[in-house]
This record gives sequence, C-alpha cells and structure tokens, in this order.
Amino acid sequence: MEQNLKGKVAIVTGAARGIGAAIARQLAKSGADVAVCDVKEEWCAETVSVLSAAGVKAKGYGVDVSSSEQVDSCVKSVIADFGRVDILVNNAGITRDGLLMRMSDEDWDAVINVNLKGTFLFTRAVSRPMMKNKAADGSSAGGSIINIASVVGIMGNAGQANYTASKGGVISLTKTTAKELGSRNVRCNAIAPGFIQSKMTDVLPDDVKQRYMDTIPLRRFGTADDIANAVVWLAGDGAAYVTGQIISVNGGMIG
Ligand SMILES: NC(=O)c1ccc[n+]([C@@H]2O[C@H](COP(=O)([O-])OP(=O)(O)OC[C@H]3O[C@@H](n4cnc5c(N)ncnc54)[C@H](O)[C@@H]3O)[C@@H](O)[C@H]2O)c1
Repeated sequence: MEQNLKGKVAIVTGAARGIGAAIARQLAKSGADVAVCDVKEEWCAETVSVLSAAGVKAKGYGVDVSSSEQVDSCVKSVIADFGRVDILVNNAGITRDGLLMRMSDEDWDAVINVNLKGTFLFTRAVSRPMMKNKAADGSSAGGSIINIASVVGIMGNAGQANYTASKGGVISLTKTTAKELGSRNVRCNAIAPGFIQSKMTDVLPDDVKQRYMDTIPLRRFGTADDIANAVVWLAGDGAAYVTGQIISVNGGMIG
C-alpha cells in the first residue's frame, strides 16, 4: 500500500542530520508536513530547506528533548504553527560509551535523559492532542508514535550499559504507550535498527565495524533510508492495525 501522508503533521526529533534527517525527508516525500526538531533551531535549517523544496510545510524548532519545559513548549508551538500533530518520531539519541565499572554518573544520566526521558516527555506532550484528532468525517483520527530504539536494546552490548538500558527502556515504554493509548486510536511502535552508517557509528574502529559486519546476513551496513522507509510504513494507514511492536531493521543481525 502506498503511504499517503498528505494533510498529516509529523514531529521528528534529532532531525538535523543522520537518521532523523532521512526520516523527515521520507515523511515529506509521502506528503507529510514536518516539524524539524533538534538542539538548536539553526541546526535544522538544512533539513527544513530540503523539505520545503519538496513542497511540504516544514519549520525548525530548537528543543532539548530532555527538558520537560522545552518539550511542552515545542509541542504547543508546533500545534499553533501547523494546527495539529499526527505523527511523532522520537529519534534524538546520544551515546557516551564506556565499561560500566568506570562509567560516570554524568555519562549514565546524560544518555538516559536524552534517549529514554526525552522519548517519554515528547510522548506525554503529544498524547492528548493526538487522542483528540478527528478525521474529516468526524471519526477518531488518532496518531502514530514511532520510537527509534536499537538492536542493542534487545541483546545488550559490552561498553554501552547506559545506551542499552535507555533503548531497552524505550522498548518497554513503547509497549506501555500502545496499551494506554490504543483505545483512542493512537498507535505506538518502535524500530530497532541494527548497524546504520551515520556519524554515531563512523567513529568506531575498523576492527569493531568488521566484527559487526560478520554478524549481518545481508553483508552490508544499513542506511538511514532503510530506517526511514520503516518509519513511513508505521506512520501511515498501511500499519493501521500495528501497535506495541518492535520492528527490527538490522539486515538479519538477530531474529
Ligand atoms: N547509527 C546507528 O547505527 C544506530 C543504530 C541503532 C539506533 N540508532 C538510533 O537512531 C537515532 C539517530 O541516530 P543517528 O545515528 O542518526 O545519530 P546522530 O548522532 O547522527 O543524530 C542524532 C541527532 O539527535 C540530536 N540530539 C542529540 N541530543 C539531543 C537533545 N538533547 N535534544 C534534541 N536533539 C538531540 C543530535 O543533535 C543529532 O542531530 C538515535 O536514537 C540512535 O540511538 C542509531
């Protein structure tokens, strides 16, 4: 089923670059208007100009996803600017890797606050507006929340206690959100990407990259568009009966 997202408004966090920028582009390609969110509004300019050139409405917002005040005020501004919110993609994420024996409180808190608390804060802020969404015929239009988790949130990974815990938390938060909001037609699913080429993974040493490659049946690293394509599917009516699911997009790395 072709996804037609015309008339829908999407919020994408961490959309200045990488996977978030690709998600914003693919949603726009399917017709959605997009609120492009990242730490600083000016970082969003490039993504916004690409989306505007594609013919949809797009605007950048500076928001730290770990700040409750900033998230609430961002969602209010998006609704004032766009009139509604139908799709939320919780994509903003960071890593602060290190063995847990030596991990500082600061590195633990930073990753949990952005990856897990940020997902909670944005989900809470859009819940009520999404529950109230109406379709043209007056029926409940609901919404679709898509959380970007990670394969390591399922399987664990040495050196990433904070990151894996945050992504494991995102997975269970996804299932709870689906249960709480399902009766109002708000769906919530997560995508668990495998190894995706991006600034986050570019910094890894070659031997580590090769070790990952050896575990991938499709014998290539994923692209940001591989993740964005799954997001577009989950966002639209083609996935109308899908909620509370964790979709692995990992080249077969784990089943
Ligand atoms: N790259 C991979 O292999 C991979 C694998 C699995 C999951 N993921 C997840 O995909 C998502 C995107 O990753 P990426 O590889 O594109 O990373 P990236 O570092 O290229 O992009 C992350 C974006 O999030 C933004 N961001 C960071 N902290 C923020 C905050 N406090 N508030 C608002 N925005 C913030 C950054 O500015 C950046 O634009 C992350 O959640 C990441 O954990 C990535």
